[in-house]
Amino acid sequence: MTVRPIIALCWVLSACTRREPSPTATPGTTAPPAADPRVDTPASPPRAFGERVAERDALVRDLARQGVKHERVLAALRRVPRHAFIPDSVKGMAYADQPLPIGSGQTISQPFIVAFMTEAVAPRPTDKCLEIGTGSGYQAAVLAELCERTWSIEYIPELAEQAQKNLAGLGYRIELRTGDGYVGWPEAEPFDVIVVTAAPQKVPQPLLDQLAVGGRLVIPVGARSEVQVLERWTRTSLGRGANAFIVDRLLDVRFVPFLGDGGR
Ligand SMILES: C[S@@+](CC[C@H](N)C(=O)[O-])C[C@H]1O[C@@H](n2cnc3c(N)ncnc32)[C@H](O)[C@@H]1O
Repeated sequence: MTVRPIIALCWVLSACTRREPSPTATPGTTAPPAADPRVDTPASPPRAFGERVAERDALVRDLARQGVKHERVLAALRRVPRHAFIPDSVKGMAYADQPLPIGSGQTISQPFIVAFMTEAVAPRPTDKCLEIGTGSGYQAAVLAELCERTWSIEYIPELAEQAQKNLAGLGYRIELRTGDGYVGWPEAEPFDVIVVTAAPQKVPQPLLDQLAVGGRLVIPVGARSEVQVLERWTRTSLGRGANAFIVDRLLDVRFVPFLGDGGR
């Protein structure tokens, strides 16, 4: 075996992982509302929910040890069967705390990052939640467990099609769209929560415009060659000025680049 393919695989697997936490890391810790997962559950629940439960529980215990505190977020990660979102070739590693390849050069994010980002936006059962970067559909399923309604946009058609199958097979009712998430989902705004899972160089203005007052957006920002920073934007008032948002810089991360012209 030559060294080259190993390096390539390592690069792919390093996407969507954290770097060293910055001292300013302040994930959201809003008190958890009563559990109310809004899942369109078929008459007999898909088998995947009952499979590999012990592995999922162990992963969630590990996430709690790493500092994730939000009970509803931990419960959502305990419930969603991550192994149902990844290709057969990597299913064995589904409950390791690491990103995994899902095809088209993309990854499903590391579970810690999914938990951290979700905790940072603290979804409530009445919230409208938008994800940019559906990928496998896993983060969208986690949001669907926590939000009243969930929307998600994926740029790569092959991934969007696979995510649709993954989510429908598990009974999740999520509005999916194939296209450039830079423009958001104007027909459904405003959103209480927006989670962006690919890194643009600056926060897309349409996403800020589509955030409700009181809404939270979490996004990795920075060029591929630089350390990216996971930022949380909380809208405090209408308008576009700097004083309409509070920005928290949460964590140094490494994400795949935001595709399309808006990522630059
Ligand atoms: C780290 S992966 C996301 C993982 C995904 N959230 C999951 O749970 O599997 C980032 C995803 O963002 C998508 N993406 C990148 N740029 C995008 C854009 N402009 N609009 C929508 N999706 C985009 C990529 O194709 C990729 O699927």
